[in-house]
Amino acid sequence: MCGVVGYIGNKEAAPILIDGLQRLEYRGYDSAGIAVSCGGKVVFGKEVGRLANLERELEKNPIAGTRGIGHTRWATHGAPSQVNSHPHLSSDGAIAVVHNGIIENYAELRDELTGQGHKFLSETDTEVVPHLIEQALKDGAASSAEALRSALSRLRGAYALGVLFRDDPDTVYCARLGSPLIIGLGENENFIASDVPAIINRISEVIYLNDGEMAALRADGVEVSTIDGRIVTPEVKKIEFKAEDAEHAGFETFMLKEIHEQPRILRALLAKHVMADGTLELGTGLSPDYFRKLNRIMIVSCGTAYHAGMYGKLLLENLTGIAVETDLASEFRYRDPKIDPGTLIIPVSQSGETADTLASIRMAKSWGCKIFAICNVEGSSVVRESDATFFTNCGPEIGVASTKAYTAQQMAFALLALYIASVRGDLTPEKLKEYLKALREVPDAVHYVIQKKAEIQLIGEKHHDGPSSLYLGRRYNYPTALEGALKNKEISYQHAEGYAAGEMKHGPIALINESLPVICICTKTADEVYEKMLSNVKEVEARSGRIIAVVSEGDTELAKLTDDVIIVPAVRDEFSPMVNVAALQLLAYYAARARGTDIDKPRNLAKSVTVE
Ligand code: M6R
Repeated sequence: MCGVVGYIGNKEAAPILIDGLQRLEYRGYDSAGIAVSCGGKVVFGKEVGRLANLERELEKNPIAGTRGIGHTRWATHGAPSQVNSHPHLSSDGAIAVVHNGIIENYAELRDELTGQGHKFLSETDTEVVPHLIEQALKDGAASSAEALRSALSRLRGAYALGVLFRDDPDTVYCARLGSPLIIGLGENENFIASDVPAIINRISEVIYLNDGEMAALRADGVEVSTIDGRIVTPEVKKIEFKAEDAEHAGFETFMLKEIHEQPRILRALLAKHVMADGTLELGTGLSPDYFRKLNRIMIVSCGTAYHAGMYGKLLLENLTGIAVETDLASEFRYRDPKIDPGTLIIPVSQSGETADTLASIRMAKSWGCKIFAICNVEGSSVVRESDATFFTNCGPEIGVASTKAYTAQQMAFALLALYIASVRGDLTPEKLKEYLKALREVPDAVHYVIQKKAEIQLIGEKHHDGPSSLYLGRRYNYPTALEGALKNKEISYQHAEGYAAGEMKHGPIALINESLPVICICTKTADEVYEKMLSNVKEVEARSGRIIAVVSEGDTELAKLTDDVIIVPAVRDEFSPMVNVAALQLLAYYAARARGTDIDKPRNLAKSVTVE
């Protein structure tokens, strides 16, 4: 949700903090602020709206100093306003705090602190933190670190905190519980950040802070300890990706760049997991024997990752014969799903920090289940709390609307389903070979679709203006319909609904008229639902719906029904969703572009949803 950065070293802090916030802005963009300490004062600047507003303010009123903290906000408690923006300060202005997460017991802490004479300026939960620290110092805490510890011991909820003390001139502090926070290690300078891309251009080694840990950063070193004061020797990790991976690379938006990256990412996943002898290696540490004995899988995730889970369920149950269910993590955590310890839980997450997905993992662990994550971010909470992980290896996904992470999650499920089916003997080596041959055609087919973007752009521009649109698909492409509709909603702000085409007659058919664009995913090779889908498209035509059809090369049937046809290469039905969704991503992209929205940072959204 929010993004946190911090710096201590010998350089001017403000430009470094602003640069970090620019790279974190995708996490929240309601307001931004920094605090820098210098010459016995904590000086701060904060502005409502995009970071550019803060940058303009800092040009007029520069803030000097070589240590500081910064924040970009996605509002939870209190509207986006200057007073609610971070950093928040203690009454005496000597302590500044930036925070990502939610302090659940803030109301009672605020009452207590008000009773002790503290004055609150904002509506935020965060503001209790500097006041608690200030109070701990008043009550006799021997050091800043001890006061911070005392404050942390009072907090319930989730936090990634950056803390600056006026009177502790050589240190920046940070702490983590339930919200992501990393420490970047430089030469005579150190950093904190919500994620690696924020500081990737400055460091090559990081410490992933664990829940319940805090750290004191000086220019020449970092000391990590638990909140209750035990010194910890942290694991220092090399960063796997390059600074360029988090840049636009000449594309007009991150989303367009990330759509274009998909063929390369899919190829790389195939190269990593398909061995020269045609066998599959997951490299996850779960043994073939484990999968042989497995009889139930539960997939939990949110948003786009949930759609990938729906696709995974269809493939896994079809190829392996294992009973597979899927659920939204936000629903799963409040259900009573009767899961036994033998059930494998598969959380799917790009960021690895989604609060509901994490809560589902913790719940399933308490039942004794094994957790096998599909995740993109090394060192993330999902990865750390799971028994094994299949990494989607997409590099940083910066566009708020997920694209490359989705197709990589689909590829992960395809490889996983084929692997499980082959170790269980559900697939003969010959059949496996056949499937892998078909799977290898997918990256080129996705590339082909992307090359047709100019044609897709014309269709997107033609249909961008209506109030609503309907996406229809069946079987493997029912999740594709949901994902296409989600992309459209997220970035073009046009209401869109994804539906299983067979359900159309049970309600949504009432919506169809000459102004409703109906996007029909109707690709075919040997799929038994193609004919059914065709009938559904004809039902739309009979009611004068504006059909946009995604069809396979060589299909002349659908071209008779509409001018707006997106022709995609014919790949095996099971794998067609990876190809078809690329067309829908581009369709949404160009509709949004025609509507003039902020594609990489759609209104109200945040890239990683770390609160419930
Ligand atoms: O990081 P995660 O994959 O766990 O995130 C899940 C959803 O929040 C995410 O997919 C969201 O729906 C995206 N904005 C979709 O484009």
